[in-house]
Amino acid sequence: MTTLKWWQTAVFYQIYPRSFADGSGDGVGDFKGILSRLDYLADLGVDALWLSPHFPSPNWDWGYDISDYQNVAPEYGTLDDFKTFLSESHKRGLRVILDLVLNHTSDQHPWFLESKSSRDHPKSDWYVWKDSLTPTPLPILGEGQRVRLPPNNWQSCFDGDAWTYVPERNQYYYHYFMKQQPDLNWRNPEVKAAMWDAVRFWLDLGVDGFRLDAIGTIFEDPNLTPHPVPMNLAELRRAHELAKTPAEKEQVEKYWHDMFMHQIEQPGVHEMMKELRTVLDEYDGDRMLIGENEYIDYLGDGEDELNLVFNFPLMRTERLTPDFIRRNQKERLTQLEALPVKGWACNTLGNHDSPRVHSRYGDGIHDAELARLSLALMLTLKGTPFLYNGEEIGMTDYIITDPTKLRDTMAIWYYDQLVNELEVDPTEAALRAGQMSRDKNRTPMQWNNAPNGGFCPADVEPWLPVNPNYSKGVNVEDQSANPASLLNDYKCLLRVRKSTPALVEGEYIPLHDASQDYFAFLRKSASQMILVVLNFSDKRLELDFSDNQEIKGKTIHALFSSDERVLANENLRQLAIGAYEVFIAEVK
Ligand code: NOJ
Repeated sequence: MTTLKWWQTAVFYQIYPRSFADGSGDGVGDFKGILSRLDYLADLGVDALWLSPHFPSPNWDWGYDISDYQNVAPEYGTLDDFKTFLSESHKRGLRVILDLVLNHTSDQHPWFLESKSSRDHPKSDWYVWKDSLTPTPLPILGEGQRVRLPPNNWQSCFDGDAWTYVPERNQYYYHYFMKQQPDLNWRNPEVKAAMWDAVRFWLDLGVDGFRLDAIGTIFEDPNLTPHPVPMNLAELRRAHELAKTPAEKEQVEKYWHDMFMHQIEQPGVHEMMKELRTVLDEYDGDRMLIGENEYIDYLGDGEDELNLVFNFPLMRTERLTPDFIRRNQKERLTQLEALPVKGWACNTLGNHDSPRVHSRYGDGIHDAELARLSLALMLTLKGTPFLYNGEEIGMTDYIITDPTKLRDTMAIWYYDQLVNELEVDPTEAALRAGQMSRDKNRTPMQWNNAPNGGFCPADVEPWLPVNPNYSKGVNVEDQSANPASLLNDYKCLLRVRKSTPALVEGEYIPLHDASQDYFAFLRKSASQMILVVLNFSDKRLELDFSDNQEIKGKTIHALFSSDERVLANENLRQLAIGAYEVFIAEVK
């Protein structure tokens, strides 16, 4: 194998700590729980862990509202527990990257409490503070009466107005997310210095890198240009739900874009990423950065900004079709290869913000087969794969229709808006809120067929309900014992990937470009060539690859099949592929 960096060869696994494993028995996941499952993760065959936020937080956004960047949330354990987790992970060959939230802090962070206390405080400029808009024409008011208006019409992408008024300063602060998540003022060098201190704190402890939260939202248009959309966030969400015709859907898409266009992807962020990269480069061991963003320009010249960004466009479809995947790969890989130092791809299909793969790309009938194809796609496409906890056992979305049980603040807010502002029937509102809520894909990990899926003790209420399908085979223990389970396919495919250099470092060469039913491609390295066929249809196929220049006259030897086939030499001219089969073979 050529000398690739560890983050190019690794398969990442995202742990959402609150829902992963409860070691203390209080219904909330924690480090003790994670520690008890490290052997499981090592045995599964992943190489690196991305830990969603583990910092102290008032949990309005479940850890993405941080009140102390250099500590551990008490419900997850102590800093010593974290250190043990890190060293035990490293002992098992598992790298660890943390979630770093740069755009905003919690409104309970001491920095914000100080900043909001007065305009004269030394930290007064650490957040984005603006005066009230002066209305034109000035209304005629009685003595002592004042009109107060937010600085402009910007919306928070979570809960309505992006501005919240603070009487102590007689000013508004800006928040792209919830009002409990004030945006830091990254134009202030003191903010940068303080945050880089926090970054060094974790790097000194030995973490291997960071996933950078919401980096596209760090700067906003300094001219505060208003958005042109004739509705607010709740109305737009509702319009999105009700759009039926292609024209209506297109209009809503345009509104989504236009509503936030002055609040995201603004100048300044690349300089900041370069600066952060130099902080990481002070350290040995190839510490890495991955941005929660899809734009290739975050890789800079290929060496001076981030190491990876996610291929989010691949997720944006109702159905993963061969055609869609081929177009995505062509566009993505062409962009990456055009960088002065070629960029490295990174693929994912699910995380704590998106519906679960099993639910999202299923068709209601062949969900299990399609989930296996999705996994095989992640592990055979060119680039670093990111998997989300629970995907390996086919966990599904669990929609909470009782609004009092919702924990995602964004969904609670939307339910309230639907009922109280938009006069939607409460039953429909509850369903809509449950569907859009991220609770559905954050339910506790299902470890076995015991009450609460083995996540926490039977007599304890978990922080989110456990999906009852844990008792129908969607759990780790049952699937470990079943050779035909998704979990065992995961293990097997992860092992195949690890022992097949071309799947990690090889070039991607698409085959049979016009095929609608199956996605076939080669991965070709200096020493090896691999053929992958993913049949997304219910048809049995007989394929002929013999006229392809790369493989003409060669033989193929199967390395993996999801069907019951003997792994042997196969005929290039008449390769039989079963319905929904995953087929991987070496071409020699
Ligand atoms: C992206 C995170 O993935 C999401 O969970 C969070 O709510 C927002 N950023 C705000 O931090």
